[in-house]
Order: sequence, then C-alpha cells, then structure tokens
Amino acid sequence: MIELNDISRVYGRGDSAAFALRGVSLRVPAGAFVRVVGTSGSGKTTLLNVIGGLDSGYTGSAAVDGRDLKRLSDRELSRFRNRTVGFVFQHFHLLDYLDARQNVAVAAFFTGPEPDDGGARAEEVLARVGLAAKQASRPGELSGGQKQRVAIARALYNRPRLILADEPTGNLDTRTSGQIIELLESLNRDDGLTVVVVTHEAPLFRNATQTVRLEDGRIVEGGGA
Ligand SMILES: Nc1ncnc2c1ncn2[C@@H]1O[C@H](COP(=O)(O)OP(=O)(O)OP(=O)(O)O)[C@@H](O)[C@H]1O
Ligand SMILES: [Mg+2]
Repeated sequence: MIELNDISRVYGRGDSAAFALRGVSLRVPAGAFVRVVGTSGSGKTTLLNVIGGLDSGYTGSAAVDGRDLKRLSDRELSRFRNRTVGFVFQHFHLLDYLDARQNVAVAAFFTGPEPDDGGARAEEVLARVGLAAKQASRPGELSGGQKQRVAIARALYNRPRLILADEPTGNLDTRTSGQIIELLESLNRDDGLTVVVVTHEAPLFRNATQTVRLEDGRIVEGGGA
C-alpha cells in the first residue's frame, strides 16, 4: 500500500539547512493500522505530508497503491490527494458558517463537478460517523468530538482507501479520544481502510498493527520488511 524508499527532506539551505527526514524507508501493507510516534520535531508531520502527496520536495521515492507519486502529473496528484487519501487534522479545519452537511460536502468541491445528489452522500457519511442527528448543526453547536467526527465524515466523502490523521485526538479529552479512536479502528476493521495516525498518545492506539517510531528524522522502529 505504502512504500517509501530512502526519503530525505531538507528545509532551508546552506548553514540553515536542516533534515526533517533522513533516509526513511517504510512499508505499510494494505489494511494496516499504523501509529506514528516520536518527539516534537522528529518528522512525523513531514512523513505524513510525503505519503499524502502534499509535499514533493524530497529525495527518494514514495509509492502508494503502486503509484510513484513523483511520476504523477499535477492533475493526477490532486486526484490522488482528493480521492485516494482522506486527511484528518488536530484542529478539525471546519468552516464555522457551514452546517455539518455542508462542511462534509466541501469534499466534493475539490473533485470537480459531480451530479448533485441533494446531499445524500454527505448524509450517508455523517450517519457512518454517528452524527445522523447533527446534519444541520454548525461547528459552534458541536462538541470537540463531534467536530472531529464531521471532519472524519468529510475525509470519507470521496471513498478514500487511506486515512492519514495528524494528532486527531490532540484537542480532545481522554474519553472523547477513545470514541474517535474506536471510530478510526472501525473504519480500518469494518471498511477495510488503511489508517496512519500520528499521535503523542501512543498507548491509546494499542490496537495498532504497526508502530513507526521517528527520532530526529530517522525511523528507529517499525519501518516494515
Ligand atoms: N515548513 C518548514 N520550514 C522549515 N522547517 C520545517 C518546516 N516544516 C517542518 N520543519 C522542520 O522539520 C522538522 C520536522 O518537523 P515536523 O513538523 O515533521 O515534526 P513533528 O514530528 O510533526 O513535530 P510535532 O510533534 O511538534 O508536530 C522540525 O525540525 C521542523 O522544525
Ligand atoms: Mg507534527
């Protein structure tokens, strides 16, 4: 599913050049649930950005589902980002003036014109994350956990095969975190999605099938065969 070979990512030039990733190789099989751990600044977000096609300023090769991301045209790469991958973030990134259904349907905007389904797909994914009753609520009327569910529904909208989540429970209390983790685990187990989660709370993700540990831009554990 994910195959990284000797990825290095440098920020800055000359004296200020700093490696965010150093010779990272990683194998993640389809259907895995991966937790990515490591101290602040160790390269976790950078790694996720490479896998998700958000960053192309690296050396080495990154392939997802057999597609070498560097060989994709701009158009193919944006299609990959919008259709193959679903992104989930710590701060939800919802639009305050849109209700839950509209926030979720924002995902359709990036995939170009589609037949108008009258909001059916948005309702379907909101139901999948347990928010059937909150279609018309704006973010200001939702709890943190509910906001993250809306964000996950938006990530699911275009039927991705891979979920990339960067500290999805970083803004939530322990109990709510547990519910979000159960949801991510269910998407993995029941819907067959491959899930990669960056987290500072590794023990909460105890059911992960693979733990990748980064230290100073290097994978020191869990890079896979
Ligand atoms: N846009 C950027 N410009 C310059 N340096 C950057 C940039 N993004 C990241 N870095 C540097 O790359 C290194 C890795 O950053 P990254 O964001 O991947 O760490 P992280 O493990 O996600 O940290 P955190 O747990 O704090 O989110 C850090 O030293 C960071 O300062
Ligand atoms: Mg980060």
